[in-house]
Amino acid sequence: MSVDSVEQSKIGAPSSGVEPLILKRWSPRSFSDRSIHPDDLKKVFVAASWAPSCFNEQPWRFIVGHRGDAIFDRIVDALIGFNKQWAGSAPMLFLTAAKKTFSRDGSPSEFHIHDTGIASAMLILQATALGLHTHGMAGIDKSKAREAFAIPEDFDVCAAWAMGYLGDPDALPEPYRALEKGARSRKPLEEFVFNAWETPAIFGV
Ligand SMILES: Cc1cc2nc3c(=O)[nH]c(=O)nc-3n(C[C@H](O)[C@H](O)[C@H](O)COP(=O)(O)O)c2cc1C
Repeated sequence: MSVDSVEQSKIGAPSSGVEPLILKRWSPRSFSDRSIHPDDLKKVFVAASWAPSCFNEQPWRFIVGHRGDAIFDRIVDALIGFNKQWAGSAPMLFLTAAKKTFSRDGSPSEFHIHDTGIASAMLILQATALGLHTHGMAGIDKSKAREAFAIPEDFDVCAAWAMGYLGDPDALPEPYRALEKGARSRKPLEEFVFNAWETPAIFGV
């Protein structure tokens, strides 16, 4: 299966009428060697900055490493299990962290991870628009990441992300090769859009 045919097979159902950019995004584990132009890299983080957030506090922080630099190596070091292997082939990795308290008054926020998730969503869609791919990772040793980057206690370490251009799926070992070529699936709306708890919403009259 070629890189192009994998790409085509991953596109979400166009019949849904959803924005093509959203349907085009997916999470590969195979990345090519091609590096990301600094202008494009900047754009994805500017896109993140335009995310909404509670009190416009913008609690997200990103720590960005490029393959070959010490920051990248430290992020790889904090990854767990197989993430360490496949993500190490991406041209860049970044960590997300979220400020636990509001800067306006020092009170605890319950929305910092939520808002960092929204910023990450904006970022990955902008990346998709630029022909890039992204892959989020929960499989990180958060204590290791915190120590490696001296992340203060007032921040939660959230996730790691790989970003780059799509690579050859056959470069992956099984079972990841099969996953890379496999179909994507989603829950039906009845399972998560309700009128009352666990009562599927009715759209229209
Ligand atoms: C916060 C978060 C954590 C994830 N953790 C991992 C991970 O540790 N390793 C991995 O291979 N994929 C990870 N994924 C990728 C998901 O498995 C993937 O997004 C999901 O299966 C849906 O596939 P799609 O993104 O191609 O639509 C993570 C995704 C997110 C958003």
